Amino acid sequence: MIIQGEFKKILTPLIRQAPQVILINNKMKTILVTGAVGFIGFHTSKLLLEKGYQVIGLDEINDYYNPEWKEANLAKLKENNNFNFLKLDIRNLSDLREQLSKYKIDAIVHLAARAGVRPSIADPLLYEEVNIKGTINLLEIAKENQIKQFVFASSSSVYGNQSKVPFSETDPVNEPISPYAASKKAGEMFCHTYAHLYDINCICLRFFTVYGPNGRPDMAPYMFTKAILEGKTIKKFGDGQTRRDYTYVDDIVSGVVAAIDLDRKFEIINLGNSNPITLNEFIEILEKITGKKMQIERLPMQPGDVDQTFADVAKAKKLLGYEAKTSFEAGMRKFVEWYRANRF
Ligand SMILES: NC(=O)c1ccc[n+]([C@@H]2O[C@H](COP(=O)([O-])OP(=O)(O)OC[C@H]3O[C@@H](n4cnc5c(N)ncnc54)[C@H](O)[C@@H]3O)[C@@H](O)[C@H]2O)c1
Repeated sequence: MIIQGEFKKILTPLIRQAPQVILINNKMKTILVTGAVGFIGFHTSKLLLEKGYQVIGLDEINDYYNPEWKEANLAKLKENNNFNFLKLDIRNLSDLREQLSKYKIDAIVHLAARAGVRPSIADPLLYEEVNIKGTINLLEIAKENQIKQFVFASSSSVYGNQSKVPFSETDPVNEPISPYAASKKAGEMFCHTYAHLYDINCICLRFFTVYGPNGRPDMAPYMFTKAILEGKTIKKFGDGQTRRDYTYVDDIVSGVVAAIDLDRKFEIINLGNSNPITLNEFIEILEKITGKKMQIERLPMQPGDVDQTFADVAKAKKLLGYEAKTSFEAGMRKFVEWYRANRF
């Protein structure tokens, strides 16, 4: 461990001058990724392994959606010798303590959560337990094990129904409209508290509607693609003018990995595409990509759903060198291709 620290000190000036040395530096870092076999966790772990990091993946592999898909993600990650896996529930602090104290961890990327907006209205206490208590548990682990970097997956949902666009990190976020959004806001606040009290950098990333291969089946890109390919009817909530800043998973993950090296005490940073798409445009694009007509049932807006999301990503660009490179149409083409090959 001490050798690692000394190495870093000696190598840092060299790395700045010679970018090719970065790989050696990365190899020395061990990252704990929670929620590692879920959608974003899988892509994050995969990219970290490709970059030469050691990854400890942690997940309870719950049945919020088909756990076999998570097992398949796990099997792929296990092909890399730098990947270790712990099947643990983040609500159980004593289990986390026992298992995680065995490792020297450089950073935690905390993605594990209950992630759906609508189910959070049905079961708010579950969201409180996993998303708030679970996050505090991981912050305790960071504190106890001197882990100095904590990257937290927050969400655009914390902006609630604000009409000012684009959404900026300095906008007030005191009016969440779902238990999920409230739980993410609470997570950010605990990150701030731990960053203030202890020697931990906490970087909270607000993801804007993430989609792509291995995507969640409860989200519109997956549900609509499934419906159109199977000739089934979709439920269209509202008049189709609601809009979302859909962000391709590779873009999100590039920001997550960059945040691991951001040496700031506490930051909140949007990661989005900064190009919102209305529901009606979404349907048109999907019809164009698949060459099929969408069957639609019109329904009123759902409680908890926000009218729009739209990320201002200037801060992400400045601090993380972040740039969303994938247009919605290009990303959906990749997603539909993946869906046909893996789920159809
Ligand atoms: N997908 C999006 O559009 C989006 C948008 C904003 C924020 N986020 C956040 O990003 C993170 C990842 O989301 P995702 O879309 O990959 O969701 P996901 O459901 O695919 O992944 C979450 C993973 O966490 C695991 N998990 C849940 N509860 C756990 C517990 N108690 N202990 C251990 N593991 C547990 C699940 O088994 C799952 O594999 C979440 O924190 C989510 O709130 C996602």
